[in-house]
Amino acid sequence: MLNRLFARIRKRPHEKERFSLEGNLPAHLAIIMDGNGRWANRRGLPRFAGHHAGMKRMRQVIRDCDELGIPCLTLYAFSTENWKRPQDEVEYLMRLPEEFFASEIDELVERGVRVRFIGDTSKLPQHTQDIVHRTLERTKDSNGMIVNFALNYGGRAEIVSAAKSFAREVAAGTATWDDLTEERFQQHLSTGSLPDPDLVIRTSGEMRLSNFLIWQAAYAEFWFTDVLWPDFTRDVLEQALREFQGRKRRFGGLK
Ligand code: IPE
Ligand code: IPE
Ligand code: MG
Repeated sequence: MLNRLFARIRKRPHEKERFSLEGNLPAHLAIIMDGNGRWANRRGLPRFAGHHAGMKRMRQVIRDCDELGIPCLTLYAFSTENWKRPQDEVEYLMRLPEEFFASEIDELVERGVRVRFIGDTSKLPQHTQDIVHRTLERTKDSNGMIVNFALNYGGRAEIVSAAKSFAREVAAGTATWDDLTEERFQQHLSTGSLPDPDLVIRTSGEMRLSNFLIWQAAYAEFWFTDVLWPDFTRDVLEQALREFQGRKRRFGGLK
């Protein structure tokens, strides 16, 4: 009885803190999920074990963001440069979406999560493309949080592809070069009409973008942590969000 009472009292400040996160949350949170390999190395495990642990963490972070009321989450899962890794690691990473969505799709649908993919998914192995299509199909009528998986994503490739896409409009006579504005160009990016990320988190102590959302993150706030991705907990997420809330964003102006 007393124990239960103490447990409730102990819980209160934490709940309050969570409550205080309401309002001023990022409309779009983007995460560079880094450090899976090092997490495994430190445990004497093969790198794929780190990727598997990272996948489990991803599941939890989606739940956390949904509970916190973050409308849009982008997760960097595989970059256009990650093909340089050993073939067996790439193959393992390309199998993970199947395992992830097989276990998660029902919960995602139940939560009303709209799953999207950014990056050139046409270059993924057929079995990975199949799960991409099935997932899009299953979540196409959802109208809750948007979760973007960046798979074979590279910011430079995305910009080149947007430039080609606009050039095609010019060639077809539906636009002239003079019609090109930042807003119009942005529509050709894979993020389309999504808001720009307000906050970009990178784990594992690296402080670089590694070709992630290089156009969209022009005015993003950055938050770096030494925590390796498989160790990224709700508390770490909340710490990032609190720091974000304390930032003064000026967008070049004075306030
Ligand atoms: C991030 O973890 C996952 C992917 C890039 C696919 P890493 O595999 O980059 O882990 P580290 O950086 O080697 O520790
Ligand atoms: C960035 O991590 C890509 C993903 C998290 C998917 P990397 O581990 O590939 O980045 P670098 O090579 O350290 O810059
Ligand atoms: Mg890495």
